[in-house]
Amino acid sequence: MARLEGKVAMITGGAGGIGRAAGKLFAAEGAKVLLVDLDQAALDAAAQEALEVGGDGVSTTVADVSQPDQVEGTVDLALERYGGLDIALLNAGIEGRVLPITDYPIDLFDQVIAVNVRGVWLGLKYAMPAIARRGGGSIVITSSIAGVRGRPGLSAYVSSKHAVVGMMRTAALEGAANGIRVNTVNPSPIETRMMRSLEKGNNPDDPEAVRAEFAAGSPFGRYGDPEEVAKLMLFLASDDSSYITGSVHMIDSGRHAR
Ligand SMILES: NC(=O)c1ccc[n+]([C@@H]2O[C@H](COP(=O)([O-])OP(=O)(O)OC[C@H]3O[C@@H](n4cnc5c(N)ncnc54)[C@H](O)[C@@H]3O)[C@@H](O)[C@H]2O)c1
Repeated sequence: MARLEGKVAMITGGAGGIGRAAGKLFAAEGAKVLLVDLDQAALDAAAQEALEVGGDGVSTTVADVSQPDQVEGTVDLALERYGGLDIALLNAGIEGRVLPITDYPIDLFDQVIAVNVRGVWLGLKYAMPAIARRGGGSIVITSSIAGVRGRPGLSAYVSSKHAVVGMMRTAALEGAANGIRVNTVNPSPIETRMMRSLEKGNNPDDPEAVRAEFAAGSPFGRYGDPEEVAKLMLFLASDDSSYITGSVHMIDSGRHAR
């Protein structure tokens, strides 16, 4: 049997690199999937890809995860369209800019925190009651290797990715009585738009050199693929991980073991 048969999943950042791969895999494993992102055209493309493997159980909605009414509306939509919610993949995120703390714009710091921290918190706030009504389920939060390590120039992003680890631990403890598992997935560099932006941010004149440096920092000598991250997300979203909650799951080819 497919591993998510009968489950309903919402995926924020569902039109981006990792969210899109997860949407496709979750749909292929039998889930009804609601993809959530900022841009309808990008969502349509992601949904089309997922529909090709997942039958008719894929739909989309435009919402900004930093806005309470829009996150609440997204959960309501999942309930309306699919009759419940079992899985929330809280994955939307922004990288901000690469600048030292002393030069970092305050409004950009607030923006990164609004999407990456408040956005995840709002996802928990509105998804947890819905998942509880199903008798439990799984919430997966996309943190990062930046959730366990510092990185010069990325103070807002690093702060945000550390913050959601603490949030995950608290939510796991609060959700346990209702059968809600909560975990983070913590990738090192993955082949998506976000890394192209960070490569440029680190060295606008030679982003390729930054890419080579990042790849060399991986014991496997390469970036990960979004599909590799999606497979870990699938495991955590599915009942295969029924005794796993409150945990940080590195997916980094051993980078942080160094
Ligand atoms: N790519 C990497 O190397 C890497 C590594 C570790 C963690 N991550 C995390 O993985 C997650 C997915 O990133 P990605 O690599 O797929 O990048 P991406 O930029 O391709 O995807 C992020 C998606 O989030 C969406 N988004 C941004 N702000 C939003 C908002 N306010 N409301 C709704 N959607 C919003 C974007 O439109 C985009 O589609 C992010 O949380 C990112 O921080 C990425």
